[in-house]
Amino acid sequence: MRSKISIIGAGSVGATCAQRIAEKGYADVVLVDIIPGLPQGKALDMMESAPVLGFDSHIVGTNGYEETVGSDVVIVTSGLARKPGMTRDELLLANAKIITEVTRNAVKYSPDGIILVVTNPVDTMTYLVLNASSFPPSRVFGLSGVLDSARLSSFIAAELGVSVADVFTCVIGEHGKNMMIIPRLCTVGSIPITRLLQPEAIDRLVARTVNGGAEIVDLLKTGSAFYAPSAAVAQMAEAVVLDKKQVLPCAVYLQREYGIKDTVISVPVKLGKAGVEEIIELELTAGEKKQLTGSAEAVRELIKTVKPDSKGDGVTR
Ligand code: APR
Repeated sequence: MRSKISIIGAGSVGATCAQRIAEKGYADVVLVDIIPGLPQGKALDMMESAPVLGFDSHIVGTNGYEETVGSDVVIVTSGLARKPGMTRDELLLANAKIITEVTRNAVKYSPDGIILVVTNPVDTMTYLVLNASSFPPSRVFGLSGVLDSARLSSFIAAELGVSVADVFTCVIGEHGKNMMIIPRLCTVGSIPITRLLQPEAIDRLVARTVNGGAEIVDLLKTGSAFYAPSAAVAQMAEAVVLDKKQVLPCAVYLQREYGIKDTVISVPVKLGKAGVEEIIELELTAGEKKQLTGSAEAVRELIKTVKPDSKGDGVTR
C-alpha cells in the first residue's frame, strides 16, 4: 500500500517535491496552499504526466486540510520570501505565525504523523513546529544537512573530477552562516579531502557551501533554490515511509546530545518509520565541539526573537 504524504505550501520547493515523490511511486501526495487554484492546478498537471512517466501515485491539490487526514508525513514548505525593505526579524516573525497556524491544522488531521520542516530559518521553524504540535522530538525534524552536504559534495566532485557517488561530506550545525563543515570527515572513496585538496581549495569550497543558498538567489534574482532542496526533502521523506534506517544529517531538537540542550541544529540521525530513531554523536575534537556549541547558540538567539520566554530549559509541551 502506498503511504500518504501531505505538502503544505505548493510553491517552488513544495510542488517540485510533490513531483519527485509521485514519480518514485511510493506515496500519494496532497498539496495544500492558501492560493485558490494553485495547488489544484499543479496537482492536475502532475497527474496528467503520470501516463507518460508511468507512476500510479495520486496527487491532489486543495486549499483546506481535510484531505490531509491520516498523513504519514507532513512536509511544511509554506512561508514568505523576504520582500524589499523587510528585515530578517520581520520575516522570521511572519513565517513563525504561518508555521504555527499550519502546524495546528496539520496536527488536527494527522495526529500520528511525522512533520518535516523546510521553511526557513529552518532550525528556528523546527523548534516552533515542535512546540505547536506537542509531538515528541522524534517526530519533528527539518531539512538542513542533507542539502548543505549535497552542495559541498557536488563542489568537491567537480573540483576533483570524480563521481558524486564517491564523495561523502559531513556538514552539521545551523542551516545558515554558522553551519559547520568538518573536512577531516569528508571523504572521496574513503580518503579524507584533507589529503586530496590544498587547504586554500578546501576553504574556498567550504565558503561556497556556506553561501550556497545566497549564490542561487543572486543568480535567480527572484525566488530561491528549489531543485536541490526538494531532492533532499524527498530523500528524507522516503527514508521515513520506506523505513530505510538511513543515516542523514537533519535539524533536530537536542536534549543533551553533544552537550547541547533545548535548541535545534543539524546532526546525523537514523531516519526510519518512527522518524528520528537515533541521534548519532560524532566524536568531535575540543575545537569542533566549541564551534558546534557556538552554532547552537546562534540558533538559540533566533529562537528568542520569536519566543522571548525560551530560557533553555525545555520546550513547552
Ligand atoms: N498555508 C499554506 N500555504 C501557504 C501559507 C499558509 N498559511 N502561507 C504561504 N503559503 C504558500 C504560498 O502561497 C506559496 O505558494 O507557501 C508557498 C511558498 O512557496 P514559494 O514562495 O515558491 O517558496 P519556496 O521557494 O517554495 O520556498 C519555501 O522553503 O527552502 C525554503 O527558504 C525557503 O522558506 C522557504 C520555503
